[in-house]
Amino acid sequence: MSNTEKIKIGVINVSDRASKGIYEDIPGKAVVSTLNEYLVSEWEPVYKVIPDEQDQIEAAFKEMADEAGCCLIVTTGGTGPAKRDVTPEATEAVCQKMMPGFGELMRQESLKYVPTAILSRQTAGIRNNTLIVNLPGKPKAIRECLDAVFPAIPYCIDLIEGPYLECNEAVVKVFRPKSS
Ligand code: MTE
Repeated sequence: MSNTEKIKIGVINVSDRASKGIYEDIPGKAVVSTLNEYLVSEWEPVYKVIPDEQDQIEAAFKEMADEAGCCLIVTTGGTGPAKRDVTPEATEAVCQKMMPGFGELMRQESLKYVPTAILSRQTAGIRNNTLIVNLPGKPKAIRECLDAVFPAIPYCIDLIEGPYLECNEAVVKVFRPKSS
């Protein structure tokens, strides 16, 4: 990536109802505004609202990672136990490596807010140079989950040879080991 190119981050709201316009796309917008607060680096969202269809979710991941060059893709929704919830399956299908610590930490943190946190199968994984992270679809879950895991995300992106993400230390305490 050249220095003049903006960092690209994929944001996908996976929701049958939001994709049909029955629900307003509040979670996708909440991800963008949270990332705007966290990031000092110039970035642009690559944005999609799609139904809970595994093939469409996988296609969106491939397009954002392989063609648009997103270093990070954040999904919201489709992580629960319902028949139509397939976001973690789509994530696993396109990733070479799973990163189970993300889901573990997000569920642990979410349990402070709701006992139903254990119903989310949210996970994360690596597709080539892209980190994919699932969040639940409830708008308030976005911040609760991202605040927990984001401190480790810039270093993860360093390790997969993505761009250097500079963050606002007053908003999020990013951790990079000293030797890096
Ligand atoms: N996590 C947080 N932080 N806040 C929440 O309100 N809701 C839970 C869980 N995780 C919730 C949460 C509920 S009720 C469900 S069913 C699962 O996330 C799955 O949500 P999803 O299918 O919208 O992804």
